Amino acid sequence: MIDASRFLADLHQLRSFGATGTGVVRPAFSPPDILARDWLAARMQDAGLSVQFDAMGNLFGLAEGKSLLLGSHSDTQPTGGWLDGALGVIAALEVARAARAAGGPAISVVSFQDEEGRFGGTTGSAVWTEMMTVAEADAVADTDGVTLAEARQVLGDRVGPDVDPARFTGFIELHIEQGPTLDAAGEQIGLVTDIVGYREMMVTFSGQQNHAGTTPMALRRDAFQGLSAFNSRLNDRLRNVVTPQSVWTIGHVQVAPNAASIVPGQVRFSMQWRDGSADRLGRMEAVITETLAEVAAEMGLGLDQGAVLGLEPVAMDPTLRTRLEAAAEAVAPGRWRSMQSGALHDATNVARLMPVAMLFVPSIGGISHAFEEDTAEVDLVAGLQVLAHAAGVHT
Ligand code: GLV
Ligand code: MN
Ligand code: MN
Repeated sequence: MIDASRFLADLHQLRSFGATGTGVVRPAFSPPDILARDWLAARMQDAGLSVQFDAMGNLFGLAEGKSLLLGSHSDTQPTGGWLDGALGVIAALEVARAARAAGGPAISVVSFQDEEGRFGGTTGSAVWTEMMTVAEADAVADTDGVTLAEARQVLGDRVGPDVDPARFTGFIELHIEQGPTLDAAGEQIGLVTDIVGYREMMVTFSGQQNHAGTTPMALRRDAFQGLSAFNSRLNDRLRNVVTPQSVWTIGHVQVAPNAASIVPGQVRFSMQWRDGSADRLGRMEAVITETLAEVAAEMGLGLDQGAVLGLEPVAMDPTLRTRLEAAAEAVAPGRWRSMQSGALHDATNVARLMPVAMLFVPSIGGISHAFEEDTAEVDLVAGLQVLAHAAGVHT
């Protein structure tokens, strides 16, 4: 039998690693991330699972023989919420623990590393699924210039052999929705039909740093004005290409030298866009690239575009979805829906190797990637019950 109070107690214990106000600061390979992984490893061991860290810091709690894999990630955004990733990992632990006590079925647990992208995005699962080589991942640097190769040294002698994906029959990830749909509709469970794809690149506009009092407006080559013009032109131009589901974000900006009395000489920013159609992602990219070049030419700015990283849109497995539908109808009759995931998940990478499905519980006010992120306890437990039911474990 699954134990809701043990599950909630573990979820709060995980929250304590990196707790900051109501949120959590636990980016991949930070001291709280490593402490949390060691705590999780001990909980997995107590549950009778065999613990294995791989070279990327992905943490597995393995059942013997072939098993169903459940889990998510336990790293957070630089300033993140307490449930993003954590919910799926702790629910997986509870389901695996209940399954072992009942003598089956065989359930394994995973906490992938760096889902939140300190080093790009879904890094641990990307390497595990061979989307990316270790050498490629190792070369990626965070915004402070620390490479993954340097950061993962902290794993030390925890690192064991790679975990063979062939030992798993499928993967189910429980997650918070991170958007407003379920909360606004008063529903309890979202069953994911497909996960959108995304593209991201770093862009630099270079102008001329100069005196903010003496340089006439007409003579300036102001890199920040370049970003500002690009942003408003892009919002206008993308309208011809996108649907209401398409999103684009400039979320990271570094203005140099970032001083009130200096015309900015350089601005470096992230340009990210997401959509459920690979074709539309490509058309959005063409508009972005054209607009960047046009603004740079008009304003006399240098333009440097970094490599475009991304993940393709992916559909969930129909058989696992059917199992989740029956489970959702049993636990939350009439209060579930099928829906697209606008957030990225490790499930996208894992779907290359085995059948994969996902389910959501509501996010209060639709808020996530923020300290205010929260979900009603009754909904957290409903998510756990649907996951257990779909995994064939008694609730
Ligand atoms: C994952 O956290 C995402 O950015 O969607
Ligand atoms: Mn997540
Ligand atoms: Mn996230």
